[in-house]
Amino acid sequence: GRLPAMTTAAIDERLAEGLAGHGLEGFDVAYVLGSGLGAFAEGLEDSIEVPFEDVDGMPASSVPGHAGRFVLGTLGGVRVLVQQGRVHLYEGRHPAEVTASVRAFARLGCRALLLTNAAGGLDPDWSLPCLMRITDHVNLQGSAPLKHSERGHGTPYHPAMGEALVEAAGAADVELKSGVYLGLSGPAYETPAEIDYFARCGIQAVGMSTVAEAAAAHAVGMRVAGLSCITNPGAGLAAGPLSHDEVVEAGAAIASIAGRLLAEAGPRLVAASTD
Ligand code: HPA
Repeated sequence: GRLPAMTTAAIDERLAEGLAGHGLEGFDVAYVLGSGLGAFAEGLEDSIEVPFEDVDGMPASSVPGHAGRFVLGTLGGVRVLVQQGRVHLYEGRHPAEVTASVRAFARLGCRALLLTNAAGGLDPDWSLPCLMRITDHVNLQGSAPLKHSERGHGTPYHPAMGEALVEAAGAADVELKSGVYLGLSGPAYETPAEIDYFARCGIQAVGMSTVAEAAAAHAVGMRVAGLSCITNPGAGLAAGPLSHDEVVEAGAAIASIAGRLLAEAGPRLVAASTD
């Protein structure tokens, strides 16, 4: 992607100021919602809504199914900032832009982050759509989300945050799988040979987002949880070609179940980020 004219720190600071300027501050946990999962934000109390385009420094997505707004509200006694939609590397965005919002959240004092996405599933025994807790990721996006000075260590996904998702799933009576998410740059879906290859490598889910944000948030000290909404079998695992419309439709089909999980997860993620 092209290099932004500003440094990463200047991008993050401008966006943090842009968010605070709209009252989008003082939140305990941030949720980044991918394709189709946006409806959840409607259940927040005392909420305010701000479109991305109104926030200085916030890059807006051009992908259908990504609403492009922030919603700040209360849920289960905690303040939650929902980022509905995100930009992707395949839109020509630089990793500094893809990761700007999560870095800005950390600047505003937020310690807990939940990243969600839509993904293709590689385990033929899972009945889809389903929800998967991301235990760790493989980044094959081919661009570095961290600077040399930020090199992280270990997995970005904090075990206590993963446990918070498991407990939330239990409380919401929602089935939750777990597995490794592979981040690819897209925007094309995979070939059947690629899916077969990744499945043999022990990958459970493939998608085009999340890995850069997870690495960046971890590097700036946030505790990160990841949730995939597995909308479709990976290419070649089911008859017929994949389409983005199918992904958005399957996301909608599981959105209310995912919403119950997200609601239960809020206070638990906050607790897991502050011990
Ligand atoms: N592959 C990559 N990204 C995706 C998929 C897929 O099958 N489904 C949703 N996002």
